[in-house]
Amino acid sequence: MADPAPLPTAELHLHIEGTLEPELALSLAARNRVPLRFAGLDELRRAYDFRDLQSFLDLYYELTAVLRQPQDYTDLAEAYLARAAAQGVRHAEVFFDPQAHLARGVPLEAVLEGLDEACRGGEERHGVTVRLIACFLRDRDPAEAEKLLPRLLPYRDLVIGVGLDSAELGRPPELFERVFARAADEGLRRVAHAGEEGPPDYVRSALDRLGVERIDHGIRSLEDDALVARLREEQVPLTVCPLSNVALRCVHRLVEHPLRRMLDEGLVATVNSDDPAYFGGYLHDNVVAASRALGLTPEHRRRLAENSFRASFLPEADKAQHL
Ligand code: HPA
Ligand code: ZN
Repeated sequence: MADPAPLPTAELHLHIEGTLEPELALSLAARNRVPLRFAGLDELRRAYDFRDLQSFLDLYYELTAVLRQPQDYTDLAEAYLARAAAQGVRHAEVFFDPQAHLARGVPLEAVLEGLDEACRGGEERHGVTVRLIACFLRDRDPAEAEKLLPRLLPYRDLVIGVGLDSAELGRPPELFERVFARAADEGLRRVAHAGEEGPPDYVRSALDRLGVERIDHGIRSLEDDALVARLREEQVPLTVCPLSNVALRCVHRLVEHPLRRMLDEGLVATVNSDDPAYFGGYLHDNVVAASRALGLTPEHRRRLAENSFRASFLPEADKAQHL
């Protein structure tokens, strides 16, 4: 059967650092004279084989070292927007990890200047509107996140919210209760990765202690019937990333992925690409692979696209234009 055509969709779970294709990583390494331990493209490609979230994060942070100048961030985001547009993406709420750059001595201003340049032209050049969500790294001290928050506020036209990512196990959401409360006071939108590798209780804690409006991943929620009932009743959006879950061995094989069950249970699931350069596909590649493995119907795909705009942080009038 022919692959389904892409539907206009909002991408809600995409780490811009995770769109760094190996070719671009090597060319930026050369441009910035950053030494990498890989002899060439083939050797680098062979490193894209992960056991779990941590083994992926090790490579992801290692390669961010090639990003140094505003132009690098512009090139990175521009390449993502071109690929995303070809896959049906019309609006993207893009994660970035400020601490991963600050820790290497790249100023926040350089990161945001570069991203802003690509994002501002996104609509005109690619028909994609873009907003950013700054993620706090949960495996670092929450006090560092608390110091970072006020530095994000001058950029709020572009940076509309905060998230929580990086190594999940042993780092429950409530560690970040204070910084999320401050973000709420500032009127920022809030999301968090939860239930990717971590238990269903982390999903509950992200909702109750951080007040998040969406859960990123959330696949382990399915282990807890009471939590599923709550997610359905409260219509909490879940930003699901099927190829990521298989690449990081959170799900054994795509045919075992819970996406279809989530939809059939009445949950507000969306499909997203997470770190497409690392996990083998952009947004529509995820939809196609999940459709094949799980037998998704055109009605499932229509709901995924509709859910994506409903779950987005677009103003209601803009959502209506997409629905
Ligand atoms: N999970 C947690 N942290 C991340 C991810 C992810 O999938 N991608 C980039 N940072
Ligand atoms: Zn993610």
